[in-house]
Amino acid sequence: MSPLRPGATIGILGGGQLGRMMATAAAQLGFDVLIYSPEDDPPAGRVATGAFQADWDDAEALSEFARACDVVTLEFENVPVASVEVIEAAGKRVLPGAKSLSVSQDRLTEKTFLNAHGIATAPFREIEAASDIPAALESLGGKGVLKTRREGYDGKGQAWVHDPAEAESAWQKIGAVPAILEGAIAFACEISVLVARSQTGATISWAPPRNEHENGILARSTVPSGLARAIEDEARRKAMHLADALGHIGVLALEFFVLPDGTLLANEFAPRVHNSGHWTPEACQTGQFEQHIRCVAGWPLGDTHRLFDAEMLNLIGEAGYVDPAKLGKNDVLTLYGKREARPGRKMGHITRRLAPRKD
Ligand SMILES: Nc1ncnc2c1ncn2[C@@H]1O[C@H](COP(=O)(O)OP(=O)(O)O)[C@@H](O)[C@H]1O
Ligand SMILES: [Mg+2]
Repeated sequence: MSPLRPGATIGILGGGQLGRMMATAAAQLGFDVLIYSPEDDPPAGRVATGAFQADWDDAEALSEFARACDVVTLEFENVPVASVEVIEAAGKRVLPGAKSLSVSQDRLTEKTFLNAHGIATAPFREIEAASDIPAALESLGGKGVLKTRREGYDGKGQAWVHDPAEAESAWQKIGAVPAILEGAIAFACEISVLVARSQTGATISWAPPRNEHENGILARSTVPSGLARAIEDEARRKAMHLADALGHIGVLALEFFVLPDGTLLANEFAPRVHNSGHWTPEACQTGQFEQHIRCVAGWPLGDTHRLFDAEMLNLIGEAGYVDPAKLGKNDVLTLYGKREARPGRKMGHITRRLAPRKD
């Protein structure tokens, strides 16, 4: 695709905070943005040129949206593949591409794909009924986490299982849907790699943040991670290999468990910009949102050089009603414009620039 010219229109499927920050980055580069979301009054719609409110299966609305855009991308990986096909049938590309979407939408397909491309994961078993759980649990060492194959996020759709007697209650807790059981990993820490792949197949990654979760939700990301350079480099190579294997275009995030001996086990990937990369706009030469828009627009990749040591703190639920007077002078606040705070809801984040990078 020849590079998009300023004034062209980029469509974004999904209207949450990721779309909002992508739309803001696109506007800075001179693009118009249209949001497509089933939600009424989505956070991204209020910073975009326009918004379509329609369901994912509304072929007429999807076609009209496609006609109004030069290229389409997404901020939400569970956009049905059928919706993407409607847009493509209307003659517009949807990036990152069908492969990235179809592989990442199902944890079984995702982990099988990672393993097939030489990227080790936690051991897992396919679960089709509660009665599959006891034998799977035993083969995984007696402790595991049951995860729905589809549509889990922020720890939702998951249940820990420590005893075969918990099989039925765990199965009910996740909604009695097709699942995987994954062995419990006693990790030393978690990191993720944000990688971008351009339309010419060039890849570039950012320094991997160390990620801390609370109640299954990301709470904090920190750079540098404190890990040995060799471990970080291996994680970055794996993420770039994954982006190539998928033929991905845009930003992708690959999460890892790091074992005490430095072994990396991939957990999952998101075929989009990611919460653990929210510090990049403030701490790096090019942030993840701008980079994603560059990829979608067919522009060259920006430099990802990290300029600051930094931490990113999520503002969840009531914490989103942050008092601006209490911010430190190196704190950069981003709020998502959500109308109300609910428990577990991501309302915004703070990126704290700790010090200029020294190494
Ligand atoms: N097999 C596991 N062993 C130990 N902790 C896990 C395991 N799977 C998930 N977790 C913890 O739960 C968090 C969320 O799980 P994840 O699979 O990434 O789902 P989500 O889609 O909700 O992000 C992980 O970042 C990790 O902290
Ligand atoms: Mg995760």
